[in-house]
Amino acid sequence: MRALTTLLAALAFAATAAAQTQPAKLGPAFEQETYGKLPGTTDKNGKAVPGATVTQFTLINKNNVVLKCIEYGAIITELRVPDKDGKFADVVLGFDKLDDYLKGHPYFGTNAGRVANRIANAKFTLEGKEYKLADNNAPHTLHGGKAGFDKKLWKGEASLTATGPSVKFSYVSPDGEEGYPGKLTVTVSYTLTDNNELVIDYRATTDKTTICNLAHHSYFNLAGHNAGPIAEHEAEFAAKNYTPGDETLIPTGKVAPVDGTPFDFTKKKAMGKDLEKAGGKPVGFDLNYVLDKGVTERPEFAARVTDPKSGRTLEVFTTEPGLQFYTGNFLDGTNVGKGGAAYKQHTAFCLEPQKFPDSVNKPEWKDKSNVVLKPGETYKQTTVYKFGVSK
Ligand code: BGC
Repeated sequence: MRALTTLLAALAFAATAAAQTQPAKLGPAFEQETYGKLPGTTDKNGKAVPGATVTQFTLINKNNVVLKCIEYGAIITELRVPDKDGKFADVVLGFDKLDDYLKGHPYFGTNAGRVANRIANAKFTLEGKEYKLADNNAPHTLHGGKAGFDKKLWKGEASLTATGPSVKFSYVSPDGEEGYPGKLTVTVSYTLTDNNELVIDYRATTDKTTICNLAHHSYFNLAGHNAGPIAEHEAEFAAKNYTPGDETLIPTGKVAPVDGTPFDFTKKKAMGKDLEKAGGKPVGFDLNYVLDKGVTERPEFAARVTDPKSGRTLEVFTTEPGLQFYTGNFLDGTNVGKGGAAYKQHTAFCLEPQKFPDSVNKPEWKDKSNVVLKPGETYKQTTVYKFGVSK
């Protein structure tokens, strides 16, 4: 009798889960399926070359938390987490299909690279040689250039690891790609633990001295990807300092205290409280915090965000010294996302652990934010996004 009751409960649960577009399996588990096909090309003899298939992976943990990601850009397309009453919502912005990602978008769910954030005037000098980059955020370069890691086809491989279902994406960036020296061999893995943590691990090696600074770029809204303004989300950062920048968001090279500025999140504060005072064009937060902990071997606490209504919380832990906080200032409703959602200004936030922006051009930051990678060295980053609830 008890077996029957359990079976019926399991079936009912599976039916509800299916209604919420949850995968059929319960975790820890993973599934994979074809997501779409990249457009075909023609080779140098004019022969049609069919576009590559893009696989989607679904990771699910024992609490029914679901993460979906695709080989194109190693993009996280969906992340469903419970609220204080156990109700699930998808808390990341994104699209329903590959075509929408191909049309161009502001880095939803991507990993910015080979160098995240801005490099002033799209150039840098390394070992006495000047390198020119694409000025895709004129006059600067942004998030790896015209076709950064967000637009590359990665190779994904899923497995059940000791800490949870995981996907490891690999990509080899050729020497000279987007103007950067050295062939860079990169992996990024997403692991979903039973503690509702998304663990992101990056590794990269090079065959020539180069620069590397990767950053995860999901746009979060803890009330749900289509829930409107994030003004009431409360944030707290373990950062007493930030790197002030000019009006084009290039840091001056100074490290300044947040105390007495609108950027002070050392104590819990609603994101909307000082958002207008933060200035900027368009207005909102878009700056790099200097985490008090500096570079660490293991991920350490960086930030906590709470959505008081749903009770969902997000904590960020990282090995990185910097944290870019961005409140979706450039969103203007033209990106029509999942289920037809028009993503408007300030309806999501990004918390992007990374080295400080434009570090390659800031010799004064060499010790606290070194982006140079040499042959024989391994670039390593671990960042943890941990979801919870506060009642
Ligand atoms: C940057 C913003 C930029 C956005 C692009 C963020 O990481 O801080 O300035 O507009 O990425 O999506």
